[in-house]
Amino acid sequence: MKKVVILGSGIAGLTCSIKLAELGIKSLVVSPYPSERSQSVMAAGGINAAIGKDDDVSLHIEDTYQGGCCIDDYNAIKELCENAPTIISWLESLGTVFSKDANEELSLRAFGGQSKKRTVFAGASTGKQIMTSLINEARKYENLGLIERKMGRYFHSALIDNGTCYGAVLYNDINQVMELELSDAVVVATGGQNALFGKTTGSVLCDGYVAGKLFTQGAILRNLEFIQYHPTTIETSQKRMLITEACRGEGGRLYYLDGDKKIYFMEDIYGPMGNLMPRDIVSKHIYDAPSQVYLDISFLGKQLIESKLSEVKDLCKKYINLDVTKDSIPVSPSVHFFMGGLAVNNKHQTNIKNLYAIGECASMYHGANRLGGNSLLAAINGGMVASKSIEEEDSISSTPDFSNYLEEQKKELKENQDSKSDFSAFYIRQEISKILDNSLGITRSEDKLQKGIEEIDYYINICDRLEFDNDISYYISYSLNSLLILARAILLSALNRKESRGSHIRMDYPNKSDKYSKPTYIRYMNGKYDVTIGME
Ligand code: FUM
Repeated sequence: MKKVVILGSGIAGLTCSIKLAELGIKSLVVSPYPSERSQSVMAAGGINAAIGKDDDVSLHIEDTYQGGCCIDDYNAIKELCENAPTIISWLESLGTVFSKDANEELSLRAFGGQSKKRTVFAGASTGKQIMTSLINEARKYENLGLIERKMGRYFHSALIDNGTCYGAVLYNDINQVMELELSDAVVVATGGQNALFGKTTGSVLCDGYVAGKLFTQGAILRNLEFIQYHPTTIETSQKRMLITEACRGEGGRLYYLDGDKKIYFMEDIYGPMGNLMPRDIVSKHIYDAPSQVYLDISFLGKQLIESKLSEVKDLCKKYINLDVTKDSIPVSPSVHFFMGGLAVNNKHQTNIKNLYAIGECASMYHGANRLGGNSLLAAINGGMVASKSIEEEDSISSTPDFSNYLEEQKKELKENQDSKSDFSAFYIRQEISKILDNSLGITRSEDKLQKGIEEIDYYINICDRLEFDNDISYYISYSLNSLLILARAILLSALNRKESRGSHIRMDYPNKSDKYSKPTYIRYMNGKYDVTIGME
């Protein structure tokens, strides 16, 4: 029987495991934390499907393609949007309780950059509702022995030989030992690289290490420079908190104060729907605003806020002691989503045989700017597509000998330790986020990107000299190198794209250029980075 290792137990990973189980294929789902703590549960606003009476799949396709600034694979986007109505029905069949109108029809809300109302939602906790039904479904297959879930497992590296993946090495944080898991396929579903940045709405448990390590092992990465800043987030003592776009979808208005006068700048520039322009555009305007920007939903009334946005009300009360039914919310943009990641084809295969990527860690559908509500859709679609692709592939007939693999890896790291580092791994991780926050803000320039690369290079040279004397400190030292290499790859991709497109805004190249109307691909080999626009 085929066996698949799935890295990550959020919405993408669980969907893939359930769909594999339906096909009679066994999967081992591994993650550091339980599904309930995955980033997926933080998804607020909803999931898109063209199911409204006045909507059509062709409009969903067009909005997604145009919203992404026309650089992604049109056919993959087409398949994604065509699958969306079936995905909603599937989720309902698993028991996901979406919000409904008075006629018991699914409610739809307006989201940025969409020509029709097409975002299906469950209040402002859509991710949590979907996760709950997926976890329940996965339990059924756990009882049948088709899904096994193991927590406390961190990815170390993939077992790759001659361009084929044969499984993964995991660090077991419970017993503090390394484990080798051989398999017919490995599916990466580990989310974005939020923790590489300091100011993010995402889970700080997602740091991009898996993509970074796989990059050093030969996987091609794509569109890393496209980083979405969500326009409306609030600063809290712990992290940035998302104020869902649903607030603007329900009619919320953005303004800043000029003296006592409220300036509704988005409406002044773009008309009545101005607050719902795509995120890259709204974020840039908030960034350029002459004073603090506020989001006003108070005029929507207590009843609407209670029925559709109660989570926003609770969040503002809890974290900034603000009553949204009376006062406007002070908002600013922060890092929210990564359009770039592991390059995959429309079967969700990477360039390494038997290695798949799904969800936010894969780059496929969102181009230079993702539309709100398309990420949950892409995560579920990716899980479904990957499971089918795995079914179509042959099982692995013979596996190379990996028995000395771990010892060789440790020896290599020890050999590099010619002298000790003055810095701790923890300190260097904090430095990475400072560097990336400075160089990869809403606007970029050659100077800042070059400076960021020099600073990262400094730590790349140091991190080989971190000491380790047990498996935990070995793992931390080992993973740092890949995080730095990933950070460098993001900076290089941004430096290479000498134009402004979607979320990538270059002050020194303010216009879009036809020369760059393709995705960026980046490869790594023996310390060398090779960046190209389009596949060569
Ligand atoms: O604003 C939001 O609710 C975010 C949704 C998304 O990123 O899809």
